[in-house]
Amino acid sequence: MAYNLLKGKRGIISGALDENSIAWKTALKCHEEGAQFVLTNAPVAMRMGKINELAEQCGAQVIPADATSLEDLENLFTKSQEILGGKLDFVLHSIGMSPNVRKGKHYTDLNYDWYLKSIDISALSFHKMLQTADKLDAMNEWGSIVALSYIAAQRTFPDYSDMAQAKAVLESIARSYGYFFAKKNKVRVNTISQSPTKTTAGTGVGGFDVFFDYADKMSPLGNASAEDCANYITVMFSDFTRMVTMQNLMHDGGFSSSGITDELVQELSRGK
Ligand SMILES: NC(=O)c1ccc[n+]([C@@H]2O[C@H](COP(=O)([O-])OP(=O)(O)OC[C@H]3O[C@@H](n4cnc5c(N)ncnc54)[C@H](O)[C@@H]3O)[C@@H](O)[C@H]2O)c1
Repeated sequence: MAYNLLKGKRGIISGALDENSIAWKTALKCHEEGAQFVLTNAPVAMRMGKINELAEQCGAQVIPADATSLEDLENLFTKSQEILGGKLDFVLHSIGMSPNVRKGKHYTDLNYDWYLKSIDISALSFHKMLQTADKLDAMNEWGSIVALSYIAAQRTFPDYSDMAQAKAVLESIARSYGYFFAKKNKVRVNTISQSPTKTTAGTGVGGFDVFFDYADKMSPLGNASAEDCANYITVMFSDFTRMVTMQNLMHDGGFSSSGITDELVQELSRGK
């Protein structure tokens, strides 16, 4: 059921690679709720061509942008305003990639050039987006900017490797830039810390299936799905969350507040 939560709002949604992407589900939900937006992804991701299917479904245009390139981001924010006919009300940063994770480099044997790339793509790109939007004065008052994080920013998950630092930086950027954007024109900036989700980025982390099942059993509500995340992001883009800013919002079915659950006790008791 649609509620017209985003009627008349304009935005940018990054990171829709395929149907499993959190950004893909978010685009469908924002469309259903009446928003108009531009889709963006890295030029290399365009080669898959999938994003055009989504663009068609949402009546959206696609602007390629490598989120680490200030030039690409300037073009993205400038053209998006031209296409949509005004300033923006929301932006989704749904971008993450670690060459160390992708190439199976252990955390105790990291390649430092790749480490810098992980931080640049997965965290600094968020600052670059915020600073570009700010300098171009591209955001409407009471706009909302969201990036996606993971609880490895606070607790160690060995296979998450250098992405843990990237997420810690990402969350810190939301707090720091959130201050300046709130003062400038009441724009709010938050991160949503999402449950493990079966996407290309998610399943790239070693032992993902076990990780996923463990989190599911450790969360009283179970893991939050990509659709659930899309719903939450939509509410964060709506006028119902105008006073929420500079937060890392846990969207994890209760995982982060749980010590142990009956399901895990049963699992660990087996054979004892
Ligand atoms: N899947 C999970 O378990 C999970 C859990 C918590 C948080 N997250 C976060 O959610 C976000 C979205 O990931 P997802 O799970 O939907 O996976 P995904 O693989 O579908 O999306 C990641 C996106 O990042 C894009 N990207 C990579 N490098 C880029 C660059 N240089 N410029 C622009 N875009 C670039 C990819 O093309 C892709 O579309 C990421 O920040 C991820 O870390 C995912």
